[in-house]
Amino acid sequence: MDCGRLALVVAVAAAAMASCAVETRGVAASGAPSPCMYIFGDSLVDNGNNNNILSLARANYRPYGIDFHEGPPGRFTNGRTMVDFLSDMLGLRPPLVPPYATARPADLPRGVNFASGASGVLAETGNNLGGHYPLSEQVDHFRAAVAAMGNSSAFRGSAARLAEHLGRCIFFVGMGSNDYLNNYFMPNYYDTARRYSPRDYAALLLQGYAAQITELYGLGARKFVVAGVGQIGCIPYELARMNNDNQPDTPSSVGSEDIAISIGIGGGGGGGGGGWGGGIGVGRSSSTSSNPNGGSGSGGGGSYSATNPTLTPADAGSGGACNETINSAIAIYNRGLLDMVKRFNGRGPQQLRGARLVFLDTVQSGKDLAANAAAHGFTVLDRGCCGVGRNNGQITCLPLQRPCDDRSAYMFWDAFHPTEAANRIYAAKAFGSNSTAEAYPINVSKLAAM
Ligand SMILES: *[C@@H]1O[C@H](CO)[C@@H](O)[C@H](O)[C@H]1NC(C)=O
Ligand SMILES: *[C@@H]1O[C@H](CO)[C@@H](O)[C@H](O)[C@H]1NC(C)=O
Ligand SMILES: *[C@@H]1O[C@H](CO)[C@@H](O)[C@H](O)[C@H]1NC(C)=O
Ligand SMILES: *[C@@H]1O[C@H](CO)[C@@H](O)[C@H](O)[C@H]1NC(C)=O
Repeated sequence: MDCGRLALVVAVAAAAMASCAVETRGVAASGAPSPCMYIFGDSLVDNGNNNNILSLARANYRPYGIDFHEGPPGRFTNGRTMVDFLSDMLGLRPPLVPPYATARPADLPRGVNFASGASGVLAETGNNLGGHYPLSEQVDHFRAAVAAMGNSSAFRGSAARLAEHLGRCIFFVGMGSNDYLNNYFMPNYYDTARRYSPRDYAALLLQGYAAQITELYGLGARKFVVAGVGQIGCIPYELARMNNDNQPDTPSSVGSEDIAISIGIGGGGGGGGGGWGGGIGVGRSSSTSSNPNGGSGSGGGGSYSATNPTLTPADAGSGGACNETINSAIAIYNRGLLDMVKRFNGRGPQQLRGARLVFLDTVQSGKDLAANAAAHGFTVLDRGCCGVGRNNGQITCLPLQRPCDDRSAYMFWDAFHPTEAANRIYAAKAFGSNSTAEAYPINVSKLAAM
């Protein structure tokens, strides 16, 4: 939703106004708006970095971005992402930072988004969907940006001045969903599940993650927001797979011409890449082999072929349970992330001197959101607003597909990603929660004001 436009509309819904007011209150409350924000992550926060690379993990087609009035398309949701709201709440004006892919030198000091759909901590993660920028490459891009800023007239060649500036900026990092969805839990494409126990795999990821945080620190980052992975065992994509065996298949209401369109678009049909969700390409028939990295097929299990789609709607809802195998692996990883944040904040040998890190417990915030869904206006928690098959979760939202009518009533936009309405709440929690169970040890508002 575009709050500016809304304000111009006379007969505007009271609820919509209230949610815009919350944002501005937040800015006022922080007192010291952060002047800059750098973003590292996956499709949950990508704002267009994958648009010009060969990848199924792209979202620069309608109806993605259907509620987005500003800036370039490429977000994996109907409107704004969680970091879009966060940067607004932090007081950035204009509120959105550009994707690195299209940023101009003059944009760099205020903030840039390096996030890339399908990416993970591990370089191989997401290869099944094609090109993307893994965390280490996103950090390389930031290194190049720092070098360019160091030369720029904005800091008059003064390293001290640049360091002072970067030390005030918020560094948002959210990684890991795809290391599970588009790696560990995709055994036909990756061997990590055979090589590592969930505990050892989490340790491997955390080692890489910690190294990249340390790199960013070395480049001048001081204020970090580290987002944990959400309950990906509960996203529509996984719910659809859980329901696979116990729900009768019924004919799809989605016309087959929608399918034809997606195939015709070639590499552009990809969906997720991250997440609260993860990534899946449009399920392709195994006879097509146009996956850019030579991968042969779908993003992981949509039982679907282009020529003979077996699509099933999920009118009956989730039928219950989440995939706890996945959730428990995520829980191990999130505990490790929290420990990493504590170590870096602490006074021990691994302290990052002068750095402050905040951990966002996305699982906790997601549970709270679900528990209070009705109060937030959500009536549908288990299926995507746009998608195909059971829970609208078997195949991601296709090009030109018609989404649900009431997007703000859905927690999920597609098989993997929250709606703008949910993103707004995740951001509000990160920014202003009083609960250390959601933002530890302080909220982002407090971090920015330090
Ligand atoms: C910075 O300036 C140096 C010296 O003028 C130049 O060699 C280098 O390429 C510049 N780096 C960037 C990133 O602009
Ligand atoms: C949960 O997900 C895992 C990994 O994809 C899968 O092996 C398992 O069968 C799923 N559990 C159920 C009950 O569907
Ligand atoms: C953030 O946390 C602080 C306590 O650390 C609290 O006083 C404040 O109300 C919270 N929310 C905002 C928006 O600052
Ligand atoms: C946090 O606490 C402050 C006062 O203690 C209150 O004004 C604010 O609404 C609370 N924030 C949230 C998100 O509950």
